[in-house]
Amino acid sequence: MSKAPFYITTPIYYVNDIPHIGHAYCTVVADVLARYHRLMGVPTLFLTGVDEHGQKVQAAAEKRGLDPKKHCDEMAENFRAIWKELNISNDIFFRTTDSFHKKAVQDCLSQLHDAGEIYTKEYEGWYAQADEIFYTEKDLVDGKAPTGTEVTKITEKNYFFKMSKYQERLISHIEKNPGFIEPSYRKNEVLGFLRQPLNDLCISRPKSRLSWGIELPFDRDYVTYVWFDALLNYATGVGLKQSGKTDEFKKWWNASPSPVMHLLGKDILTTHSVYWPTMLMALGLELPRTIYAHGWWLTQSNEKMSKSKGTVVKPLDVKNIIGVDALRYFLSRDVRLGNDSQFSIELVINRVNSELSNNFGNLLSRTCSLIAKYFGGQLPVVEKLSEKSEALKAVALSTHTKLEAHLASNELQEALGVVIDMLTNANQYLADREPWKMAKTDLPHAGETLTISLECVRIAAILLTPVMPTKCEELLKRLGGTSGAWSEASKFLALKPGTVIANEAPLFMRVELPKAEA
Ligand code: MSP
Repeated sequence: MSKAPFYITTPIYYVNDIPHIGHAYCTVVADVLARYHRLMGVPTLFLTGVDEHGQKVQAAAEKRGLDPKKHCDEMAENFRAIWKELNISNDIFFRTTDSFHKKAVQDCLSQLHDAGEIYTKEYEGWYAQADEIFYTEKDLVDGKAPTGTEVTKITEKNYFFKMSKYQERLISHIEKNPGFIEPSYRKNEVLGFLRQPLNDLCISRPKSRLSWGIELPFDRDYVTYVWFDALLNYATGVGLKQSGKTDEFKKWWNASPSPVMHLLGKDILTTHSVYWPTMLMALGLELPRTIYAHGWWLTQSNEKMSKSKGTVVKPLDVKNIIGVDALRYFLSRDVRLGNDSQFSIELVINRVNSELSNNFGNLLSRTCSLIAKYFGGQLPVVEKLSEKSEALKAVALSTHTKLEAHLASNELQEALGVVIDMLTNANQYLADREPWKMAKTDLPHAGETLTISLECVRIAAILLTPVMPTKCEELLKRLGGTSGAWSEASKFLALKPGTVIANEAPLFMRVELPKAEA
């Protein structure tokens, strides 16, 4: 039976700045999840992209003295280039300035307007430019937005989407679908928010205040609120409101159960779990299966990284120190998905040295160098497995099942932990059996130990390929070019005796902390 499709998205990032480690984090995790699904034979689609309209981007372009489109073109290229360096395998790079998207957004607006889901009214509110959100008086905390940004009072005529109409339906959907908002504590936060009366959503901005946006099809004096435009990307990216794309849209969006998983940071959970589902309900479309809110990377003083404070970490700076695969590994492994965590280069280096260099890399080097020394670089024959070898075999064979179970619950950190545990077991087994001594008195036993250890390396290489594609592919090449197919991770002694095993430089070099510049 063919497997149900999986469509994963990252937020589309504002092009007011170049990506930092927080953006890279979400994109790498989404990439890793996409690659796992592909490797397991699931039809997979992965979308990332950029959010180009709105006040923030208009202001950033003005600051650079550039026409907004020219500014966006340059910034979009920056994102693309950085994702390429991080080996991101997105199928779609979405840009909200693409004409098919603009047309589709206008068609959605017309549909909702014709159906009476959009109305106009004179509105007085508190506008936070930095958040691009209107707040009511009661939302304010000490005269500021709940996010802490400055607000100004504005009165104007605007268009509103009848979001409040869908409040009860949304609550019921969230309650009936436990996996809809994850982690589950975030679901409770959203339900808490929905216990208050829900306001309708202001979806327009007068051109007199903001011109950089998608024009409302029913009033040329207004552009569309950037979040209304941006959220629709997930659906227009797979064919919504585009002729000839009905099948594509049905496959990737409008299916039941839904193939869609949105990954995003906890700060934009409300827009994704309240605005977006109610928009979809009004449009008569399926809701995503999962909205997963990840946490933040914090500075060492436990603050969210901030450009103005100069505490932002650039992903390529880290990559240049430890390499792309080690960076991908760190981001996937170091924090439980959903939690916040501090970021420091010391933490990165400790993690990659201890788990990649000392554990994984060491097992590989010791095994390969002993096979070179005592078996002419060819995999020894194994006659019969000893009790200890059988025990390690059982651990190795259960690893992919445990990993799959963790992935099914989006527990990426734990999924990788299972592989590390197997490698730790294998290193312990090697240390206990001391094949370097055994080889002098009992060569067949030494051969058994080395072959069993190398099997663990082979299985780890397959299971970690989505996280470290380049290193793992190179490793599989060293093991006689053995297959990296997912099904091979559930086999033991898959490498044939006599296979030529390359004994090369360490796969993961130990990394030293760069010296501070004088
Ligand atoms: N354009 C909107 C999203 C629209 S999606 C339809 C946006 N863009 S953003 O450029 O501000 O990127 C936000 C994403 O980066 C969020 O998911 C946010 O959580 C994430 N991060 C920003 N700083 C972060 C950290 N320090 N750590 C982890 N992720 C954080 O919002």
